[in-house]
Amino acid sequence: MDAALADDLPDGLVVAGPDARVQLVNAGAERMTGCSREELLGRDVREALPLQDTTGRDWWATTDPWSGLAIRTGHRERMLVRPGGRELLVTARYARPGRGAPVSRVVLQLRDTEARRRFENDHAGLISTVAHELRSPLTTVKGFTSTVLKKWDRLSDEQKRYMLSTVEADADRVTRLITELLDISRMDAGRLEVRRQLVDLEALLRLQVERMVAAGEEEGRFLVHVRGPLPEVWADPDRLEQILSNLVGNAVRHGEGAVDLSVRPDPDGDGVVVLVEDEGEGIPEEHLGMVFTKFWRGNRRGGTGLGLYVVRGLVEAHDGRIAVSRSPAGGARFRIALPSGVPDALREG
Ligand SMILES: Nc1ncnc2c1ncn2[C@@H]1O[C@H](COP(=O)(O)OP(=O)(O)OP(=O)(O)O)[C@@H](O)[C@H]1O
Ligand SMILES: [Mg+2]
Repeated sequence: MDAALADDLPDGLVVAGPDARVQLVNAGAERMTGCSREELLGRDVREALPLQDTTGRDWWATTDPWSGLAIRTGHRERMLVRPGGRELLVTARYARPGRGAPVSRVVLQLRDTEARRRFENDHAGLISTVAHELRSPLTTVKGFTSTVLKKWDRLSDEQKRYMLSTVEADADRVTRLITELLDISRMDAGRLEVRRQLVDLEALLRLQVERMVAAGEEEGRFLVHVRGPLPEVWADPDRLEQILSNLVGNAVRHGEGAVDLSVRPDPDGDGVVVLVEDEGEGIPEEHLGMVFTKFWRGNRRGGTGLGLYVVRGLVEAHDGRIAVSRSPAGGARFRIALPSGVPDALREG
């Protein structure tokens, strides 16, 4: 590999030849090993880069690619320790010109454990938050169902109805949470599917209003505007619905007054801008930067705090941008910019 290109890699890279001599060291490897290129190049990698496994055994002796089993082709990422104590995650590839042939090249990829640790901490935090979010509705479900079962004859229909509708709402909450978590895991893994087709944004906005009205909101509270002829937008209609229902749901739940939905050509680009505004208290200046983070919620009326995180992920999966600010009426204003035109992938296909 080109040495300059190797230096651009975030990971460390060390390559040794058939004689175990170091042939290439990139900038990442210099940083992680604390040795300069000059110190390493040309030396036997087993001496230049001593590594131990976590039980303190010499790793080169256990794995020796040059005299070990001639069918080994490397190993997966493994935690190894530099004498001196620094931990590295090491992945190795042993290149052989043919099956069973001696190695022609050993490529080591080194990675700092820092990022991994941060990821694991995030992971632990995520699991405990999710467990907590799942437990609270289930506690109500369990409490109310036991009460209804035990005191069936003593409860009035009114009381039973109240308890069962709470149970239903909590079951819906758990289902929604799980759906959101699945979307998030796809999003975080970069595997969220977007099935683009030509969409009618005005119809999508009106559909949201119909849904809200069907759910018991007052029709007069919603305004839909379309300003000017719109360029063609290719997007996934189901995902757009998900985006809009989150934003409109927030405007109704966290905001107040009229909810204004509008779409217009983007003044700064060739796409469109969709605005969802309300007349409530809005989001305090100091919280504007946090609303799109996982599990952040500003008040007790909130749900799980995943809604806007999912919304942002969905917008970005469409190569769009989302921003939040204060509307002139004082409430919250969410602004989504979506690009227009047929995406390259569809044009070719
Ligand atoms: N229109 C709005 N007006 C005022 N505050 C808002 C508005 N929209 C969102 N927020 C604030 O941002 C927080 C995060 O919103 P988000 O949609 O991510 O979570 P949520 O609505 O609390 O829960 P979920 O959407 O997962 O049920 C909310 O808890 C609320 O405090
Ligand atoms: Mg929400």
